[in-house]
Amino acid sequence: MIMKMSFVGAGYVGLVTGAAFAADGHDVKLVDIDAKKVGAVNRGESPIYEPGLPALLKKHVGKNLRAQSSFAGALEGSDAAFICVGTPQMENGSTDLKYVEGALQAVAEEIRKREGYMLVVIKSTVPPGTAIRAEKTLAKLSGKKPGVDFGVASNPEFLREGSALEDCAQPDRIIIGTARESDAKMLGRIYERHKARIIRVTPTAAEMIKYASNSFLAAKISYANEIARMCESLGLDVDRVMEGVGADRRIGASFLNAGAGFGGSCFPKDVKSLAFEARKKGVAPILLDAALEVNELQKKHAFAILEGMMKVQGKTVAVLGLSFKENTDDVRESAAIDTIALLQSAGASVRAYDPKANAAMQKICPGAKYCASAADCLDGADAAIIITAWDEFRKPAAYYRKLLGDAPLVDARRLLDEKDAAAAGLNYHCIGRGKG
Ligand code: UGA
Repeated sequence: MIMKMSFVGAGYVGLVTGAAFAADGHDVKLVDIDAKKVGAVNRGESPIYEPGLPALLKKHVGKNLRAQSSFAGALEGSDAAFICVGTPQMENGSTDLKYVEGALQAVAEEIRKREGYMLVVIKSTVPPGTAIRAEKTLAKLSGKKPGVDFGVASNPEFLREGSALEDCAQPDRIIIGTARESDAKMLGRIYERHKARIIRVTPTAAEMIKYASNSFLAAKISYANEIARMCESLGLDVDRVMEGVGADRRIGASFLNAGAGFGGSCFPKDVKSLAFEARKKGVAPILLDAALEVNELQKKHAFAILEGMMKVQGKTVAVLGLSFKENTDDVRESAAIDTIALLQSAGASVRAYDPKANAAMQKICPGAKYCASAADCLDGADAAIIITAWDEFRKPAAYYRKLLGDAPLVDARRLLDEKDAAAAGLNYHCIGRGKG
């Protein structure tokens, strides 16, 4: 069934989900206060780097997908309003809900004016209990009745940056959190083209599922990273160990890749936020705190390995990969930020390169020299560190040997083959592999 829907917030989640629903045939309107972003979308251009998104926008913009920068008419005639605004972190780890509250005001205004029912769907990641409170807020602001004139659902997203459209098309599960059966049915109709397993819960349980899922994945990564450090001291290879561990179906092989630590706009924020909510309720978030603590250590680990080998003061160090992971230009909470800062405070000059994220990192770390290619960055450097697993860094060891000579290469993403590195005479060290 084709539905009319509006998305409040055309950031990562709103834009990708809106475009994916347009591809399903729904009629989609995006509203965002950022006029530049709106302009780009309406020209069929993607304001973010996400594989597959430009083609989808070109196909649907002007047909069943459009964006606007004011609320005027944005929600009119829509069966559902998806709230996809940002939920930034406050100093104390709690979640700032000011954008969600702003969106609710606009939604309340529409509910107040209209005759028909509106389903309000919260997709933003919010603390458990937010959707229930939102329903009360909307009732108060609009003077209309929940369950009669409108309903609020929680429908968290599980998209990964860099593979978001694939995740949208083939989700492992769709979580539908509603207080009433009729709202669950309506949301189910919106997703009827998706073949995924649908799990129906209350709105608060849905919100908790999102936090608990991200926290579990973050803890899994920290676990792999801690085992990786043990492997280094035992002369073992963490990938071989995790292959054996992950083969147990109860554990599962994914998200056991040791690396530079988890970054991005979700894991660090969501784990901190859940820990904050736990404390508020008098529950000690021991495991969550540990996952964060291990991560802080891991983000500094590539630097620590290099520092253990040489004095970096006065040396030129190349940092390859600046985004928090491959296939995105997002640098939020990237280990590259910690690595560059540590190198600079130890007196090194930093050359940096990323296929997509040079400009974003330059705003945060203006003191580094940004290079146009990996080769420019590496050529003649006294040492190099790989932080992000971009495919273009998966080169034969001879390539690095030619550019670096005897200078050490510390690989936080384990991209090179050990035997190839040894054969090429490359001074190669990677996270999670001990020289045993
Ligand atoms: C994450 C979740 O995977 C999504 O399901 C969720 O929807 C999203 O957060 C969100 O809450 O919006 P994302 O932050 O895009 O997605 O990236 P991930 O692919 O999960 O990677 C997060 C970080 O963990 C990256 O820095 C990555 O390099 C690191 N990572 C991941 C590892 O170090 N090892 C692994 O095995 C996996």
